[in-house]
Amino acid sequence: MSTLTKVLERNVSQIEKNANMKEGRFRLGHHLMPPVGWLNDPNGLCWYKGRYHVFFQYAPFDVEGGLKFWGHYTSENLLDWKYEGTALYPDSSYDCHGVYSGSSLIDQDKMHLFFTGNVKIDGDYDYINEGRETSTLHVESEDGIHFSDKEEVISFEKYPEDFTCHIRDPKVWKENDRYKMVLGGRLKEDKGAVLVYESEDLRDWKLERVITTPEVFGYMWECPDYFELDGQKFLSVSPQGLSREEYRFQNIYQSGYFPMKEDGSVDVNDFREWDMGFDFYAPQTFTDNKGRRLLIGWMGMPDADEEYVNKTIDEGWQHCLTVPRELTVRDGKILQAPAKELEGLRKEKTVLHDEKSIVEIRVEVNEGFDLVLDEIVMTGSSFKISMGGQMIFKYEDGVAEIGFSGIAGAGRSKRKAKIGELKNIRLLADTSAAEIYLNDGETVFSTRYYPDCEDLQLKILGGKFKGNLWNLRKMIFTK
Ligand code: FRU
Repeated sequence: MSTLTKVLERNVSQIEKNANMKEGRFRLGHHLMPPVGWLNDPNGLCWYKGRYHVFFQYAPFDVEGGLKFWGHYTSENLLDWKYEGTALYPDSSYDCHGVYSGSSLIDQDKMHLFFTGNVKIDGDYDYINEGRETSTLHVESEDGIHFSDKEEVISFEKYPEDFTCHIRDPKVWKENDRYKMVLGGRLKEDKGAVLVYESEDLRDWKLERVITTPEVFGYMWECPDYFELDGQKFLSVSPQGLSREEYRFQNIYQSGYFPMKEDGSVDVNDFREWDMGFDFYAPQTFTDNKGRRLLIGWMGMPDADEEYVNKTIDEGWQHCLTVPRELTVRDGKILQAPAKELEGLRKEKTVLHDEKSIVEIRVEVNEGFDLVLDEIVMTGSSFKISMGGQMIFKYEDGVAEIGFSGIAGAGRSKRKAKIGELKNIRLLADTSAAEIYLNDGETVFSTRYYPDCEDLQLKILGGKFKGNLWNLRKMIFTK
C-alpha cells in the first residue's frame, strides 16, 4: 500500500469515527446512506460468494461532494448491512481527481470492477473538449473486499476522436463467451451517446459501435446500463440537457430506458423515465443468485441545489440510495417493485377500513412505514394521501402528482406523471425519504422530504380500497 493510500485510509476512518451520526434525526431506517459526507451513484452492484455488494460514489471529506472514493456495503439478505469501509481510493495517477462510477463482473469465481479514473489537468481548459483524462480502469478480487492494483484497460488517448473528454461509467457483462462494455459519452457535436466495447480477455477492449439517437437527445449520456428482461433488450442511460416539459423531464437531469430494436438502435419516442420524483438518478441493475434483475438508483440529483436542498447537510451527510427494486416487464414497460425481502422489516399491521370517506391514522415517520392500497375505486374527483399536510400525493384526471407544503420539501415543489387509471399504490416512507410505487410499479416517484415532527397524521381521502399499513423496523447497519 502506498503512503498516499495509507494517509487517505487513516483520514477516512478517522472522519467516519468522529462523525456522531446517531444524533441525526433524518438518518434513514431502510435506505443505504453514507457513514458521513456525500454519496452519489450506486456502483459495482453484484451478488458474489453469498453476499450482495453495493459500492457507491463516496466523498467522505465534503458533504457537498468533491473528491470521489468508492464506499462499500455488503448484505446477505438485503436487510442487514455491513459497512465494509472504503473499497477504492483516488490514489493513483489514473484517478487522482476521483474514482468515478463503474460496475462489477463476476467471472470464474472472481469479482472484477471496471470504473472511470478521473484526472483533470491544471490549466486554462474547458474540461469538455480538453483538460480531462478519463480512462477505464480495472481491479479484481477473490473475496470482494481486497482488490488488486489498478490497471488501465482503455486509456483516454484511445477513445474515438469524435468524442469530447466526457466518456465514463463502464458497465460490463458477458455475452456468448465474450465480454461487453458500455460507456456513457458526449460527442463533440454536443450529443449524448453510448460506446459499446468488446473483449475476449477483459483487458484488451475494442470499440464495436456507438449507439445514439438520430436527433439530439441531451448533450451527454451518463451511467449507461444494458440488460435483457423477458427476451427484450434494454439500454438505460442518464441523459443531461433535455428540455423540461410539464409531465416529463421535470428535473434538471433524467434517467430512463430505451427498449432496443432488432438492429440494436434506439428511438427517442420510446424513452421512458425510471422515476418521476425529485430525487432519482444514475441507476444500475444487476442479477442475483435468484435470477432476479434488481435496480438501485441514487436518490439524489446533481446540480439541483438552486431549486431544492437536503436538510441532512446540517447533520454532516447527504443523499442515499433507493431500496433494491425488482424489475419485470408488462406490455413492453418495466415494472419496479421493492425487493420482496423488504417485507421482512414489517412490524405490526393495521388494516385500513375505508367505509368512511376519510381514513386517518397516526404514523411514526421516525420509524418508517409501508402503506399498501389495492383495488382503488375513486369516490370523488380526486384521490389524496396527505402526510400531515406536509407531503401530499394527489391523483386526478389520469395525472398523479406529489407536492409539499411548508418547509418539508426543502424547496421541492411539484412533480407530475400521466398514469391513466390509478389502481394501486405502495408508499414506502422512511424518516426523510419516500418511494411511491403506482400501478404495480409502472410509475414511481422517489423523493427526499423533511417532516417537522416525528409522527404525523396520515389522511387518505377520495376513494375506496383494500388497505394495509405496517410500521417498519430499521435495517441493521454494522461496521
Ligand atoms: C453521475 C456521475 C457519473 C460519474 C460520477 C462521479 O452522477 O456524474 O457520470 O462517474 O457521477 O461521481
